[in-house]
Amino acid sequence: MSAKPVILVTRKLPDAVENKLAEAFTPMLNPRDKLYDTEELLRLAEEADAILPCHTEKFSAETIARLPSRIQAIANFSVGVDHVDLEAARQKGVIVTNTPDVLSDATAEIAMLLMLGAARRASEGERIMRNQQWKDWSPAFMVGRQITGKRLGILGMGRVGQVVAQRGRGFGMTIHYHNRNPLDSEQASGAIYHDSVESLLANIDVLSIHCPASDATRGLIDAQRLAVMHPDSILVNTSRGAVVDDDSLVDALNSGVIAAAGLDVYNGEPDSIHPGYRELDNVFLLPHIGSATVETRDAMGYRAIDNLVAIFKGEAPGDRVA
Ligand code: DGY
Repeated sequence: MSAKPVILVTRKLPDAVENKLAEAFTPMLNPRDKLYDTEELLRLAEEADAILPCHTEKFSAETIARLPSRIQAIANFSVGVDHVDLEAARQKGVIVTNTPDVLSDATAEIAMLLMLGAARRASEGERIMRNQQWKDWSPAFMVGRQITGKRLGILGMGRVGQVVAQRGRGFGMTIHYHNRNPLDSEQASGAIYHDSVESLLANIDVLSIHCPASDATRGLIDAQRLAVMHPDSILVNTSRGAVVDDDSLVDALNSGVIAAAGLDVYNGEPDSIHPGYRELDNVFLLPHIGSATVETRDAMGYRAIDNLVAIFKGEAPGDRVA
């Protein structure tokens, strides 16, 4: 029997996933969940036939060019693939896969949490409670905004965007969206299509960002576009920080161009995010936990394993992106 392919797993995965991986492969695990730098990653990759990374490992064109020729695939434990230079992978003949679908529900839950948290001033309320600053109740105390019945704008109506739309309908929200192309009427379920970002932003109360980070979307939400939004509106982002220009958003939140924001993803995360966000009361901040549920983490791992199994059988993996 030929030896099992060796898979370099860059982060600690759920035990069930690591056990399943070991059925078909020889995993090189990272039980202490150490964050490898590029040199360490490249050194460990010398022993492996494929890599199972997270978005925390960056595969620039230069890193991909230096991957040992033995590496056949980068099977990501993520739906987002902006951490991998896909063109460089194509050129080197390294297959790249992701894990779509399985995190849509979990991410949509966090999008709703951010909407509610931003609209109902959850950060301020939490802080008041934890700091023992709650001294009184009055009709004017901690008054926020309601999302029920409002217009929800989805920027990027892919898998996650469509689940968020469904959840929004549960709150009686009217769904508006902008996408490269309109959805067919069954998928759209009555959602109103806007053929430009500006048209979407001008006609909504809550914006939920679901487009991937790419050269086309980097800094898409900038000062000019924020200025189109209604002053009572709320922005939430569970996609990638790169879609938002941070200086513009911090200014907009400070000056009342928009009312509030809920963010789970950031430029420079985890430790170099825009300092302005921490100063603002009208933002509700979470640490990139959109897909962080037990169910979803397992499902992401199994999906990455399915992709690897197909690749090493010489078949087309279900989730090939390069
Ligand atoms: C994803 O899957 O892209 C999540 O953001 C975690 O990486």
